[in-house]
Amino acid sequence: MSEHVLIERRGAVLVIRLNRPEKKNAITRAMYAAMAEALKAGDADEAVRCHVLLGQPGAFSAGNDLADFMAVAAGGEGGEEVYDFLLALAGAEKPLVSGVDGIAVGIGTTIHMHCDLTFATPATVFSTPFVDLGLVPEAGSSLLGPAIMGHQRAFALLVAAEGLPAQDACAAGLIHRVVGQDELEDAVFKAAEALAAKPPEALRIARNLLRGPRGDVVARIREEGEHFRARLKSDEARAAFMAFMSRK
Ligand code: COA
Repeated sequence: MSEHVLIERRGAVLVIRLNRPEKKNAITRAMYAAMAEALKAGDADEAVRCHVLLGQPGAFSAGNDLADFMAVAAGGEGGEEVYDFLLALAGAEKPLVSGVDGIAVGIGTTIHMHCDLTFATPATVFSTPFVDLGLVPEAGSSLLGPAIMGHQRAFALLVAAEGLPAQDACAAGLIHRVVGQDELEDAVFKAAEALAAKPPEALRIARNLLRGPRGDVVARIREEGEHFRARLKSDEARAAFMAFMSRK
């Protein structure tokens, strides 16, 4: 387990909290592994009825750790933990409720496309600078984004990299509700506890019906992943990572 991911049980709710505030919750390989393990454990535990995903005040997540990206770009290993996490996320059997305040970049945005109820504060801006980094959308977002928001809004977010403020994300259907910063966790836990109290088998079937075939999402995650891994080693991506690392 990574110290940068805190796992907590609150009754029937399993809470996964990103805890790397000094790096705006940028997600490392160890953090993906910890989150995947927690999701799988929660799914396997009958007493867990709902998963909650949270970040820190001011930062849900600045996305994948760019130093990890650079290591892959330089020819190193990596990517298995991300893939394992994405499969656990896309295949999750229990409802997912998330809460976001402030920064939500890359996977910090696309993760919520797998959630069932997302709450965000007015200070939140969702953004995915994949193409600007020489990369492509991931986490099944190229399939889920247009399905959730329609092509043009998904294109503006996932390709043009226009930031999407919480209020607009709510209007677009990406998130459930905008709530004040001091109400965020209460809103998230209230929603999670209400789901956890429902008949679990009916909840599971109903959620599966709404989410549709997982195989399509998994196939898209794999297809995106092939492009993503190749793009990580591209000159476009290397130049973008260097620019971030050497900024003043
Ligand atoms: N990977 C690694 N480190 C990251 C990071 C990331 N994705 N995002 C932020 N950090 C680090 C910064 O390098 C900085 O570290 P330092 O204090 O050791 O210099 C620290 O987190 C704080 O970030 P900072 O940029 O000073 O905060 P900010 O509030 O000014 O800006 C962001 C926040 C998110 C706008 C900015 O950090 C950013 O653009 N990050 C990269 C986001 C990104 O491209 N993610 C990948 C998406 S696919």
